[in-house]
Amino acid sequence: MSALGNTDMTATKPAAVEVRGLAKHYGSVIALQDVNIKIEAGEYFVLLGPSGGGKTTLLRTIGGFHKPTKGAVLLHGQDVSHLPPDKRPTSMVFQSYALFPHMNVLQNVGYGLKVAGLSKRDNQDKSAAALELVGLTGFESRKPHELSGGQQQRVQLARAMVLERDILLLDEPLAALDAQLRKDMCLELKHLQEKVGITFIHVTHNQEEAMTVADRIALIASGELVEHGNARDIYRAPDRTFTASFVGENNMMSGAVTDVSGDKVTVTVNDTVVHVDRRDKAVSTGEKVSLSIRSELTRMTLDPDDAQVQSGHALTGSYREAVYLGLTTSHLVDVGTGHDLVCRVVDDLDVLPQKDQPVTLYWRAGDLRLHTQ
Ligand SMILES: Nc1ncnc2c1ncn2[C@@H]1O[C@H](COP(=O)(O)OP(=O)(O)OP(=O)(O)O)[C@@H](O)[C@H]1O
Ligand SMILES: [Mg+2]
Repeated sequence: MSALGNTDMTATKPAAVEVRGLAKHYGSVIALQDVNIKIEAGEYFVLLGPSGGGKTTLLRTIGGFHKPTKGAVLLHGQDVSHLPPDKRPTSMVFQSYALFPHMNVLQNVGYGLKVAGLSKRDNQDKSAAALELVGLTGFESRKPHELSGGQQQRVQLARAMVLERDILLLDEPLAALDAQLRKDMCLELKHLQEKVGITFIHVTHNQEEAMTVADRIALIASGELVEHGNARDIYRAPDRTFTASFVGENNMMSGAVTDVSGDKVTVTVNDTVVHVDRRDKAVSTGEKVSLSIRSELTRMTLDPDDAQVQSGHALTGSYREAVYLGLTTSHLVDVGTGHDLVCRVVDDLDVLPQKDQPVTLYWRAGDLRLHTQ
């Protein structure tokens, strides 16, 4: 450690992006309300949520394409709320922003630099370097219609990256691609961000895409920031009901608290009694709550004497059906909670239960989660 080693420089460094009390109204439509987020420099941050939730509005407000109705956007500590996009340290990849069809790849990438008045030589050097970054060296003289969808998407990326801004805003950058290409490009985006080290803010409604690329994820729905956190925690330990219902495949149950005893909470869902750990939640008898358990953490047995079943973290019901999904199989069971619960397994059973046969679903105590909002 140097003589200055105990001076923590990062502690005082402002966030790359800070959104404070942000609201955006379009006439009578409230697209965003009271959004507060801090995104650190060099993070891969994902805005995830359902259609119409306000993701694009938030991204465009950060980029300067919309003015906030209330609140402020700070980039590297500076309030940029009233600055236009080209005066901000951001560049944007739009969801369906077509390339210029009459220009070749190199000209498309260099267009922004040309407008900014860069010399032809520097423009070509920078554009070639940006194309190399996205793996398109050798494609310089092709026209957009001579490229695949994935290649066109890379040209768009290069076109945004060539501007050398330190915050890249990506609105559904992979939406036009088929499933396999989307998967491949996801990893490429992640590796690209690691390589260049700038801040990426990526909007998607696809949770797998979000999980693949993100360091941190913010859930945006109905104009509000529902929950944000480390990508793994959002998946493994969602706090809010909405997050549990949107991320992963969770069995959701809603009911009322019928007993609280220390860390143990009893919830009645329809007429079914379920026990759950309280963790740090403040709950009281009579309160409406919801419960979630991931389908891949839900197990099934035909043996009511199974030790796990005896532990109390189990529900017995009637077997409904098996749904084959290729890699995995989902077993649907009616345990009287209103919706069939799903137990998702990789290994197939030799003998399937009969329809309506009694089966028991069980789980590790900690895997069932309690949500109060
Ligand atoms: N220019 C506009 N004028 C009026 N309402 C708008 C405008 N743009 C967006 N909205 C509304 O604002 C809300 C948020 O829209 P936004 O485009 O930010 O959602 P989104 O999360 O990006 O959705 P998607 O996943 O479908 O792209 C929606 O109700 C939408 O209809
Ligand atoms: Mg959108």
